[in-house]
Amino acid sequence: MKFLIINGPNINMLGLREPGIYGSQNYAALESLVRETCAAEGIEAEIFQSNHEGAIVDKIQQAYGHYHGIVINPAAYTHTSIAILDSLKAVAIPAVEVHISDVRQREGFRQVSYAGQACAKTIMGQGIEGYRLGILWLKGYVEGLEG
Ligand code: DQA
Repeated sequence: MKFLIINGPNINMLGLREPGIYGSQNYAALESLVRETCAAEGIEAEIFQSNHEGAIVDKIQQAYGHYHGIVINPAAYTHTSIAILDSLKAVAIPAVEVHISDVRQREGFRQVSYAGQACAKTIMGQGIEGYRLGILWLKGYVEGLEG
């Protein structure tokens, strides 16, 4: 099984960035957690981060036919990007949305998720552990689809 893990803008700034909201662990720690989780589950993983909306759309399009699942934290593009939503719908690869913080408890402008509308599940407010939960959930979901 092959998963693509996508992180949007400013996720590379973890650790430095508003630690009261996003925690003190850095992006390298997030990458390690993802790699260790996938290795333990026998999942091949590619991890991708970009601060650019079009690069994320390109990556989702290129995933078609190559990945069984996508775990995506579109970061601020969650709340603005119909392009990312449309690309997830276009490839129709099973996807899980992850947010490190609990966006439901935050500003009004974070209450809409476009990308989430193309995702089978959303995990939020669990810190970087949410990625592990997302990968495990998606593995079970994809296995269920494949029967
Ligand atoms: C985030 C929440 C978004 O609202 C924010 O713009 C981010 C990170 C999260 O992981 O909690 O950059 O996606």
